[in-house]
Amino acid sequence: MSRITVDGLTKRFGETVALDDVSFEIPQGEFVIVLGVSGSGKSTLLRCMNALETPTEGEIRIDETPVTSPRDDVAMIFQQHNIIGQMSAYSNALTGSLNRNTFLDSLLQRQGEEDKLQALDALDTVGLLDQAQQSAQRMSGGQQQRVGIARALVQDPTILLADEPVASLDPGSSQQVMGYLRTAARERGLSAVISLHQVNLARKFGERFIGLRDGKKVFDGYRDEFDMDVIDEIYGDIDTDGMFAPEGEADAGTGDGADAATAASGGSSSGVTR
Ligand SMILES: Nc1ncnc2c1ncn2[C@@H]1O[C@H](COP(=O)(O)OP(=O)(O)OP(=O)(O)O)[C@@H](O)[C@H]1O
Ligand SMILES: [Mg+2]
Repeated sequence: MSRITVDGLTKRFGETVALDDVSFEIPQGEFVIVLGVSGSGKSTLLRCMNALETPTEGEIRIDETPVTSPRDDVAMIFQQHNIIGQMSAYSNALTGSLNRNTFLDSLLQRQGEEDKLQALDALDTVGLLDQAQQSAQRMSGGQQQRVGIARALVQDPTILLADEPVASLDPGSSQQVMGYLRTAARERGLSAVISLHQVNLARKFGERFIGLRDGKKVFDGYRDEFDMDVIDEIYGDIDTDGMFAPEGEADAGTGDGADAATAASGGSSSGVTR
């Protein structure tokens, strides 16, 4: 069991305040989506949670222990899947056990039976067991991201962090990847904190939502409170037209057209659909 506590987190880069006194707690097992326009602090928040950045003020604790260096029980999934093209899906997934084995063990594929079973189990979770031997470079972007999720699962974390894990994928693959992420988190009781640009995708898969604006937390709540007013609060003056589809319509057809980047490039600040 791991409880994440973000306590008065401020991160400054010179004059830029990337995060401004952000606090929240996440109990074990919640599926949390972080939203906000470009530059609002999403990546900085996730990077602080994995000790890739050091807070200027405040701290992050997992249970009662301050996070000061990357931890084995926190797995990070990146936008660029960071998998090794020449290796099979299985071998890529198996590298998630690096934390338990020496580099030489990994290189010589001397992982134990337990690790190998975990790699197969993780590929099964992301629907790729049949393609375990497929070379990763011959897989689609969505499949590669699913291999990235499998590798994160083999790390055997209690917390999954993902910074825009579907940013480079088409709407259909984005939905699939989000679906597998949610299934993986549910099956294994993991907490997940995932940043997204697509509001409709967030609504379809999220359980709890944290909205950032100019580094400040402007919303923190669950599905029933995550309405158009909240989206206005998070996205401010940008044209939020079409970002909010009624329940059940947040599918592949509407998901991509409704992303914040598309809305932002629309330019107008009026015409919010309610
Ligand atoms: N290493 C850094 N050095 C200087 N400034 C930084 C650094 N990292 C982030 N920033 C600044 O901090 C602010 C928040 O950036 P961050 O990358 O967290 O935003 P974001 O919400 O992830 O944006 P995007 O949606 O574009 O990924 C921005 O103003 C950014 O320019
Ligand atoms: Mg970012």
